[in-house]
Amino acid sequence: MGGFGWSSSTDEVLAGKDLSGTSVFITGANSGLGQETARAMAAKGAHIIMAGRDQAKLDEAVAAILGTVSKAQLDTITLDLGSLESIRAATSRARQRFDKIDLLINNAGVMACPFMHTADGFEMQFGTNHLGHFALTAELMPLIERGHAKRIVNLSSRGHHFAAVDFDDPNFEHRPYDPWVSYGQSKTANVLFTVGLEQRFAVLGIHAYAVHPGGIQTNLGRHMTEEMVAALMERVTSSDSGFEWKTIPQGAATSCWAATAPELEGKGGVYCEDCHVAGVDDVSSSGGVRSYAVNSSYADQLWKLSEELTGAKFPS
Ligand SMILES: NC(=O)c1ccc[n+]([C@@H]2O[C@H](COP(=O)([O-])OP(=O)(O)OC[C@H]3O[C@@H](n4cnc5c(N)ncnc54)[C@H](OP(=O)(O)O)[C@@H]3O)[C@@H](O)[C@H]2O)c1
Repeated sequence: MGGFGWSSSTDEVLAGKDLSGTSVFITGANSGLGQETARAMAAKGAHIIMAGRDQAKLDEAVAAILGTVSKAQLDTITLDLGSLESIRAATSRARQRFDKIDLLINNAGVMACPFMHTADGFEMQFGTNHLGHFALTAELMPLIERGHAKRIVNLSSRGHHFAAVDFDDPNFEHRPYDPWVSYGQSKTANVLFTVGLEQRFAVLGIHAYAVHPGGIQTNLGRHMTEEMVAALMERVTSSDSGFEWKTIPQGAATSCWAATAPELEGKGGVYCEDCHVAGVDDVSSSGGVRSYAVNSSYADQLWKLSEELTGAKFPS
């Protein structure tokens, strides 16, 4: 039950749970938090559909998980969230291969990359972190509707404090590109998408949760220069945040908690960190969700913009 916090690990959060018969679709499952979420849930008997853009990396992750969970039920699917064509092809295969999805963990992400574009011309971080997952979720909705647990977990970040969504220029066509403003915008979009999903699908028993996992050393920092790392560390350690790194199992714990906690049943549209629901806070740098990230009008505005940009349509 409850009682989990900053230092709780995936195995602690899932202790005593039986996930057999539960199908979990995880994006970015070949690395970092996604791979650990896959391992921990597989250890509890879940069937995991591991999505990643590189089959060789997926194969390596499968081998690593089977090394510790020999009976893990793992499937893989190749999916590039930076390409609508790839998303449509992968989800069409998923609908043929799988009967249902109980838990969708929209975990993949890119952080603070140089100014780049997805195959469809969207700015890379907004395009991958938000628009790709928006289109993916729309295409997977028929499988989620057939699932039992019916939860969607969207990996956001405390980095959403850096920026709201700029509805006039989400793709940085008319303003100078800043890798952190872009990351912040995309992670705010992950929370607004969570709110939008809850507004539309709670009535069908489908609930969505946004998660800040903490600060964890994974491959996410691959685009950061030494100067960027130094500036970021200065920012987090000189603020009131009391920053400390989490281990990967601690980092993936909040995703596992949001996906399975009985106390969250029917209570989606929220932002979780350290295995609890965080309150709205427009000042603190040590936690909480910004009001612009849970504003239901902005959530609607983002939903419409995302439909227009991707052409994706959720079942009504
Ligand atoms: N680590 C942290 O401190 C931290 C803090 C706050 C939030 N988060 C969030 O947690 C999530 C997981 O991050 P992580 O720390 O585990 O990072 P990670 O180890 O870099 O994993 C990110 C995953 O996303 C995948 N990915 C990136 N671009 C993709 C694309 N176009 N199509 C499909 N998959 C793509 C990566 O695939 P490749 O291996 O092929 O690149 C990788 O599997 C992210 O959403 C991140 O924003 C992390």
